[in-house]
Amino acid sequence: MESRPKKLHLFLLLLLLTSLYCLSSSAAAITLQSSFPQEALPTKSGYLTVNSTTGSAIFYTYYEAQKPRTPLSETPILIWLQGGPGCSSMLGNFYELGPWRVSSSHGQNVEHLSLERNPGSWNRIFGLLFLDNPIGTGFSVASSPEEIPTNQHDVAKHLFIATRKFVALDSLFENRPIYLTGESYAGKYVPAFGYYTLKKNKGLPKSRRLNLAGVAIGNGLTDPEAQVGTHAVSAYYSGLINEKQKTQLETLQKEAIILTRNGNWSEATSARSRVLGTLSNMTGLATLYDFRRLQPYEDELVAKFLSNVEIKRALKARESIVFDVCSDLVGKVLHEDVMKSVRYMVEFLVKNTKVLLYQGQCDLRDGVVSTEAWIKKMKWERIGKFLEAERIVWRVNDELAGYMQKWETLTHVVVMNAGHLVPTDQAVNSQAMIEDWVLENGLFSTGQIKKKPSDIGKSL
Ligand SMILES: *[C@@H]1O[C@H](CO)[C@@H](O)[C@H](O)[C@H]1NC(C)=O
Ligand SMILES: *[C@@H]1O[C@H](CO)[C@@H](O)[C@H](O)[C@H]1NC(C)=O
Ligand SMILES: *[C@@H]1O[C@H](CO)[C@@H](O)[C@H](O)[C@H]1NC(C)=O
Repeated sequence: MESRPKKLHLFLLLLLLTSLYCLSSSAAAITLQSSFPQEALPTKSGYLTVNSTTGSAIFYTYYEAQKPRTPLSETPILIWLQGGPGCSSMLGNFYELGPWRVSSSHGQNVEHLSLERNPGSWNRIFGLLFLDNPIGTGFSVASSPEEIPTNQHDVAKHLFIATRKFVALDSLFENRPIYLTGESYAGKYVPAFGYYTLKKNKGLPKSRRLNLAGVAIGNGLTDPEAQVGTHAVSAYYSGLINEKQKTQLETLQKEAIILTRNGNWSEATSARSRVLGTLSNMTGLATLYDFRRLQPYEDELVAKFLSNVEIKRALKARESIVFDVCSDLVGKVLHEDVMKSVRYMVEFLVKNTKVLLYQGQCDLRDGVVSTEAWIKKMKWERIGKFLEAERIVWRVNDELAGYMQKWETLTHVVVMNAGHLVPTDQAVNSQAMIEDWVLENGLFSTGQIKKKPSDIGKSL
């Protein structure tokens, strides 16, 4: 492959901008400026072939741990999967939890996009691997639309193949503990990949297994039938809709639930969209992803940044690919999958490895109430213990960060002052959460939870 460009300073002039700003009426003469500092390049990036016959491949970027606490050969690796279905993990990389995030500044009709260090990057002490999943998403390649997975088993199969290929790239990767993480629709992918891996490992010699050590889901859609029933109460008790609107919304929710129970999958997905669309119209919010926001999340910054050919080259992504944050095609292919539950996979995982479920508190799509609705339905002999466990005030650097509830292998965290994109909103706290959960530190330790005397005083 090509060598790494030393330093890239790009000045993309009006020509490019005309297309980028076609939606923005007042941007008469804006210039876009992007730069990609050498130090921000991934440790490794490129393609992991999932089908050698067709050439379909998953795009990845990998960032080695910045300050590992153990020899690299033992340092955990986190895998991040974006949701959608069909959204690129480059959103997570460059807008949420990666070591460098795209930021935009304006001046003299110039929009300057640059990469800034993320103080809460998830690769501080762990390796961090972003996969554009499934094929057809982001920079990943689907040789034909028919090859894009239509269900979670096929999604997981490709992820397993790709991750095995990744691990084989370097002997330093071979035996490192792997944690699967992700957000939103990855509430399906993460359980599916974890479940597939544990089942598949059993039939493989040790050298060909994946060393799965746990799974973490942020603001996930996992058990849609239980979750779609919670929007009305959630919005009503947040003061966003009145009782009459609550009743209207409940009627729509009921339709989605009945269609789901009948296995009328495509209609059920559309019915859920009507619930969310109606809630959005009733509340007039800029986004259901965070009821505090006056403007939506700026994920288009990532698309602008990655539209540049020099930047694609620097990342070893195929230059011919027109990058979209979310692929409509993949969304369409998985349309019938949306309302299918993978709760049984989480039940399997909680018995065989460890599970973290965390939500930004201000999300109205896949938030706290929505997640608790299916947690309590879990078939797991310890679920009663979990539900009875104390919900503990969680602090980071002595400041209130949220709440934590735990029983053995199941941990639930509510992240305060965050919406759907938790690492974007609470970078440092999200880093503390994932690190402490992986390493079982402090509140996240497996043993008896001891409160510091100062904490007891503060929580009164
Ligand atoms: C690879 O593609 C071929 C042709 O589409 C298909 O028959 C086969 O099942 C695919 N293999 C995987 C692992 O997806
Ligand atoms: C699915 O739901 C739609 C709308 O309610 C209905 O018209 C259709 O007959 C249903 N299809 C099946 C297979 O039940
Ligand atoms: C929300 O409002 C828009 C604009 O009036 C309308 O086009 C759309 O159909 C509405 N959505 C729902 C689900 O009612």
